[in-house]
Amino acid sequence: MASVRKSACSSSRLIPLLLMCLTVAIIIAPAWAENHCSEHRYEHSLNTHHLQFTKEIPDREYGVLKQFKSLHCCGKGYRSIEWFKNNKPHPWSKDVSSFIVYPEAANQTIYSPRLEENDIGNYSCILRNETHAIKHEIELRLQDKLDNPMPTFRPKDLMVSVGESARFYCEAFVGNLYLPDATNEIVWSQMFDDHPHNVSDSMQVNVTREEGQIIGSYLSIPNIQAHHYGRYRCQIVSGNSAQKLNLSVLLSPVQVTAITDTQLSVLVYVMATLLLVLVVLFAWICRTVQQRTSSKKDNRCSAQFIANNEHENV
Ligand SMILES: *[C@@H]1O[C@H](CO)[C@@H](O)[C@H](O)[C@H]1NC(C)=O
Ligand SMILES: *[C@@H]1O[C@H](CO)[C@@H](O)[C@H](O)[C@H]1NC(C)=O
Ligand SMILES: *[C@@H]1O[C@H](CO)[C@@H](O)[C@H](O)[C@H]1NC(C)=O
Ligand SMILES: *[C@@H]1O[C@H](CO)[C@@H](O)[C@H](O)[C@H]1NC(C)=O
Ligand SMILES: *[C@@H]1O[C@H](CO)[C@@H](O)[C@H](O)[C@H]1NC(C)=O
Ligand SMILES: *[C@@H]1O[C@H](CO)[C@@H](O)[C@H](O)[C@H]1NC(C)=O
Repeated sequence: MASVRKSACSSSRLIPLLLMCLTVAIIIAPAWAENHCSEHRYEHSLNTHHLQFTKEIPDREYGVLKQFKSLHCCGKGYRSIEWFKNNKPHPWSKDVSSFIVYPEAANQTIYSPRLEENDIGNYSCILRNETHAIKHEIELRLQDKLDNPMPTFRPKDLMVSVGESARFYCEAFVGNLYLPDATNEIVWSQMFDDHPHNVSDSMQVNVTREEGQIIGSYLSIPNIQAHHYGRYRCQIVSGNSAQKLNLSVLLSPVQVTAITDTQLSVLVYVMATLLLVLVVLFAWICRTVQQRTSSKKDNRCSAQFIANNEHENV
């Protein structure tokens, strides 16, 4: 009797403990979301506080039915962040989307624990401060059986001066690996005459999201030298396919003509104004000379001359 009561008593103590464990597990489970936006932020975003996106954000994402999926808009300096699906504001009813915001990541992340068919569509986030708003759009597509890596972030061309730093990012959805010994690969090369070479004086950092289904790589060049200019390639090889994905990007020096574009238009305005003044002056001189020759010996000041002329006409 006593032992039964004792075990009942201990199990009743176990229940809150189990509940606590479960709560802790639930809180810990989406920790990825908290980390994603705080990792690999742009260097310049770390010591500034205005409204901005803080890292590269994909414009296309892929998800697998019945699996976890998250979307991110990493930013800072915002007073509010709003999410829309096909222009309908969050929160969404089940028939629109199963995604919910993740307040622990300051609403920068939305996620679905189990992706549904009607979750596909165009998502957008709008971040606002008191005076400005910035927007990003992400198209979410379904991917079931994957043959080739699908680009989610294409690297963007950069114009950078010698001595400054540059960073490129590329990312692709490679899906779940079906074969146990298959691996994914992502590698940056500098292209010389269409041949890949190791990038000198640079750093490559590989990242993964969503349990390795998405792989990405940062290429950082801290001190740009003349030999760094040119074309780069991010090559992504999925263990499931023979087809390699090549994403190409250009690093070029800051062009002088690009800077003086506004200066050039100012110059054109100044020249045009000067020309107009010259034309008016020339016309005026012509007229004065003509009037002077008509009233021959008059060598008085022209203003007085005109005034006198007018007086005579009245
Ligand atoms: C809002 O963000 C813009 C752009 O980032 C910035 O120029 C402006 O100073 C910000 N306004 C306030 C009130 O913080
Ligand atoms: C985050 O979302 C919650 C729920 O939608 C909302 O109450 C809160 O104000 C949002 N916070 C920001 C910073 O937008
Ligand atoms: C999302 O937007 C793209 C163009 O921006 C469009 O082609 C596509 O059909 C849209 N998808 C949905 C589901 O509305
Ligand atoms: C990134 O991955 C590629 C191959 O997948 C490898 O060659 C490279 O060394 C990796 N870089 C780092 C920093 O791990
Ligand atoms: C590129 O660097 C890797 C090690 O970082 C080395 O194994 C490889 O041989 C190099 N390739 C070339 C073409 O220099
Ligand atoms: C990517 O480049 C490699 C060699 O550089 C080539 O074999 C491959 O076919 C290219 N992939 C695509 C999709 O064009």
